[in-house]
Amino acid sequence: HLRCVHFVKCKFYLDLKNVKKRLFSDYKDNTPLLKNMQRNKQVAMGRKKFNMDPKKGIQFLIENDLLKNTCEDIAQFLYKGEGLNKTAIGDYLGERDEFNIQVLHAFVELHEFTDLNLVQALRQFLWSFRLPGEAQKIDRMMEAFAQRYCQCNNGVFQSTDTCYVLSFAIIMLNTSLHNPNVKDKPTVERFIAMNRGINDGGDLPEELLRNLYESIKNEPFKIPEDDGNDLTHTFFNPDREGWLLKLGGRVKTWKRRWFILTDNCLYYFEYTTDKEPRGIIPLENLSIREVEDSKKPNCFELYIPDNKDQVIKACKTEADGRVVEGNHTVYRISAPTPEEKEEWIKCIKAAISRDPFYEMLAARKKKVSSTKRH
Ligand SMILES: *[C@@H]1O[C@H](CO)[C@@H](O)[C@H](O)[C@H]1NC(C)=O
Ligand SMILES: *[C@@H]1O[C@H](CO)[C@@H](O)[C@H](O)[C@H]1NC(C)=O
Ligand SMILES: *[C@@H]1O[C@H](CO)[C@@H](O)[C@H](O)[C@H]1NC(C)=O
Ligand SMILES: *[C@@H]1O[C@H](CO)[C@@H](O)[C@H](O)[C@H]1NC(C)=O
Repeated sequence: HLRCVHFVKCKFYLDLKNVKKRLFSDYKDNTPLLKNMQRNKQVAMGRKKFNMDPKKGIQFLIENDLLKNTCEDIAQFLYKGEGLNKTAIGDYLGERDEFNIQVLHAFVELHEFTDLNLVQALRQFLWSFRLPGEAQKIDRMMEAFAQRYCQCNNGVFQSTDTCYVLSFAIIMLNTSLHNPNVKDKPTVERFIAMNRGINDGGDLPEELLRNLYESIKNEPFKIPEDDGNDLTHTFFNPDREGWLLKLGGRVKTWKRRWFILTDNCLYYFEYTTDKEPRGIIPLENLSIREVEDSKKPNCFELYIPDNKDQVIKACKTEADGRVVEGNHTVYRISAPTPEEKEEWIKCIKAAISRDPFYEMLAARKKKVSSTKRH
């Protein structure tokens, strides 16, 4: 009995060996299959390399004849994106190199935006890679996006600049509406008002803006590799508004004022509904610091660095309507809560730091608002 079992085992083993041998010879004869296996393995390795270092990954794939060295082929590879990390795709597409810029354009060409509204197109585009953090990179990518959108949807916007500016207004709207840290949720009317005059000096159709607003309101943008670090908060100077107490320059009394931070200026109003501000403080060349005040909590101060007695360039409106220069060497301000103080300091700091992105956007906004429509 034992011998019998042994025999069966042995036979089984020999059969197995035969099967393996046959399989192997199949492979050997079937070189295309073997080659394909090797190729797949190398492609997988190339993807891995790409995710660690995009440039090296692409180079590896080209050297091993797995990818043609043309911007169209590379763009196709990134567009398919199989097994690729979207952060790495964003990094590669954002590079300043002439060749990478060509790949970026080929990549954008692969996106089909015809008959999509701007929000739908942005959803598709922003999902295909992760937007890198650097202002110049974002600018190049969004410029390419705007060009492609206008190419696919002739006549919707007067110019690509209009499309570019509106795209950012939408990305910012996404944050304002969906980021729980942003208390002030703009209404559709405000969104429309904010985008007045951006169509080469003219207005965009209200219905178009309403649709875009509703779309974002109903569903925020999803971004790949969302690490909770909201792009919009990092790369835009968030506008902010709220009640603060301001210490007078000449007469040292605390006055409650409605402050609005926008366009690198701090405006303050007596009432939220006032059309004209009581004062304007341009933030250029100023710094901000926390201070203790014996009378008020949560204080901070705007001041001119390295300068004790110089008056800050600012203006205010007198009771009789005259606009005069301010008389402050520092602006001391008190926030209602420690959290609000932190937020104001953060936002004002961001405004002061002359975010290059903010300046690029502001310049374009100026351009699209001042162009005369023919
Ligand atoms: C993609 O790469 C980024 C940056 O290296 C990393 O933080 C992220 O976790 C990666 N994502 C995946 C899905 O591996
Ligand atoms: C849109 O808002 C959501 C929710 O705050 C956020 O996760 C996402 O990153 C935002 N998208 C963009 C493109 O800023
Ligand atoms: C800020 O500083 C620069 C350089 O010193 C100067 O040219 C500019 O006029 C200053 N701006 C304001 C508002 O004081
Ligand atoms: C600012 O101070 C100067 C000198 O103290 C004074 O002459 C001027 O009237 C003040 N201006 C305002 C707007 O209070």
